[in-house]
Amino acid sequence: MLFDMLTPGRILFGPGTTFRIPTEVGRLGKRVLLVSGQNTLQLPENRERVLNPLTSSGLQLHHYRVDPEPSAEAVDRGRELARSQDVELVLGIGGGSALDTAKSIAGLYHSGEPTAAFLRGKEIDVDPIPWVAVPTTAGSGSEVTSNAVLIDRETGKKSSFRHERWMARVAVVDPILTMSMSRELTAWTGLDALTHAIEAYTSRWVVSPAAALAAEAVRLIVQNFFTAYTGGKKEAREKMALGSLMAGLALNSAGAGVVHALAHPVGSRYNLPHGLVCGVLLPHALQYNLPITVDAYAELGYRSAVVRRDASVEESADKFMLYVRKLVEKLGVPAKLGDLGLKHDDILNLVEAAKSSSSLSANARKATLDDLRAMLERNL
Ligand SMILES: [Fe+2]
Repeated sequence: MLFDMLTPGRILFGPGTTFRIPTEVGRLGKRVLLVSGQNTLQLPENRERVLNPLTSSGLQLHHYRVDPEPSAEAVDRGRELARSQDVELVLGIGGGSALDTAKSIAGLYHSGEPTAAFLRGKEIDVDPIPWVAVPTTAGSGSEVTSNAVLIDRETGKKSSFRHERWMARVAVVDPILTMSMSRELTAWTGLDALTHAIEAYTSRWVVSPAAALAAEAVRLIVQNFFTAYTGGKKEAREKMALGSLMAGLALNSAGAGVVHALAHPVGSRYNLPHGLVCGVLLPHALQYNLPITVDAYAELGYRSAVVRRDASVEESADKFMLYVRKLVEKLGVPAKLGDLGLKHDDILNLVEAAKSSSSLSANARKATLDDLRAMLERNL
């Protein structure tokens, strides 16, 4: 066996780990660009747990707030602010949007080129400055991946770019920060994490350490998702945060699949949240991949205790897929993208945009453009 796995420098996980942020940040520098969502640090619990300890620790903080679904231009603006203050590191706090922005600002800090040039394929040839990741959702996995997804406002396209040196120096995953997520956000971000876990587990690039992480992530998410969604026990939130973290680590090594190949063009065309699009597409993709992934789904079904060990492989795979479909339905996610605005006339363009996605190359079953078109047509 031969593999090459990228991991962050350090992962701190567990309730209360946020209190270690000032020390971890202080080790890397004093002048800090703090990147967050618009309202993330206005929530009283986040102010108390994150902002106050940071401000009283003597660090020089320059705050940059980002909108959901961030753009290359938003990274340019953040990078300008960071340079004007001569910051030594970036601290990203929030969901995938804030973390991807923080990662890109740190990664491209030393470049004079517009971010959009790199998003369109220019080689990343500059040294990054360090960044620290603090997720407040359980979904994107951005705290443990080397890639970022941004919109290029000029072309309207959403694309991802990456560099192996873009891993966070420290990822602080405190499940308490995810407790204030709304039901809707819990559903969408959790579906993103579940998709990462399943797509990584069944990826054609998966190696055994990533498969172990992905399988455990599926178990944690499947067994705790609905309880977390309905506002149940704190323990369920903690297990979702752990599942999302493990899914992110697996994803960074194994890649994703057809859901992610289609989710970026569909999300940017109709301005839809990433996790929501993943949730709609996931049951369709499970069905599509079944001829190749029947054993994998059966194994995930056993491990998640959705099926008994004595059931046949085919029956177990079917039950696992049915379980996922019902879960998506219970989370209030529509069964088809047509319910979210997908139009027949857009399908060819969407398939064209998905064609070059690395997620498509990682997908378990070799998907042709006709396959993608057929999957979207079934979504009308
Ligand atoms: Fe995702």
